[in-house]
Amino acid sequence: MDNRPIGVFDSGLGGLTCIEPLLQTLPNERILYFGDTARTPYGSKSPETIEAFSLQIADYLVAQGAKILVIACNTISSTAIPALAARFPEIPIAGIIEPAAFMIARDCNPAQSIGIIGTKVTVHSRAYEGAITQRNSGLRIHAKACPAFVPLIEEGIIESEIMDLTVHHYLDDFVRCHGIDTLVLGCTHYPLILENLIRAYPLLQIIDPAQTLALAVRETLIQRDMLAEKPDGPNVFGASDLSENFVNLIHRIIKNRDFKIALRKF
Ligand code: DGL
Repeated sequence: MDNRPIGVFDSGLGGLTCIEPLLQTLPNERILYFGDTARTPYGSKSPETIEAFSLQIADYLVAQGAKILVIACNTISSTAIPALAARFPEIPIAGIIEPAAFMIARDCNPAQSIGIIGTKVTVHSRAYEGAITQRNSGLRIHAKACPAFVPLIEEGIIESEIMDLTVHHYLDDFVRCHGIDTLVLGCTHYPLILENLIRAYPLLQIIDPAQTLALAVRETLIQRDMLAEKPDGPNVFGASDLSENFVNLIHRIIKNRDFKIALRKF
């Protein structure tokens, strides 16, 4: 048993979309979240910068007592896991890409046309394709970077014509040319535009990797006998800049659970 909190992090508010699945799957755990809202987006930065920022965040979470590092960010998961594992050899690290890739390789079939959307860094890394084809080389996979989604979402521009136009701009040709029928949200910000995506492409099957991440975290904690008995304090949501959208989204997601908000600048 281990009552220390689960450290969860992202470049900004996107990783908050993983909190509900984590708390549903692990109701006795306490969350220590950090979003680097002052420096988001990471998705168009160099791998060196992403690695350096990720190590700073992980240092902070571990110093605050995190027992596991949950990377609720595809961009960081595609880039910085080796550096994080080298810095914290004794702490389990759960990236969001591997569990989703495992599930896609197991459950999808060659008749499907799978589209993966994400940031430039995630798409250029080909991390999803690599992890999927390693387990199942017979699937049809296409990927598309959608770099304007994250800045718009961080600004709260969601229920808006601008977002709908941006969705069509990036995805109309992609979906049509490749006959995409299954869309993987390869960025944790994208569940926040789920309704825009469904409105634009009502027939698509949409996969949000947050659920498989939560199951993988539970599996890791069980294997290491690190599950908590009960939450022994409030969930803490930290950010490098407490933007209005970040704070509002926490209130929406956390509902009636106990939580605190913290500012941590780098
Ligand atoms: N939410 C992050 C992800 O899953 C990336 C956002 C960013 O570009 O910073 O990739």
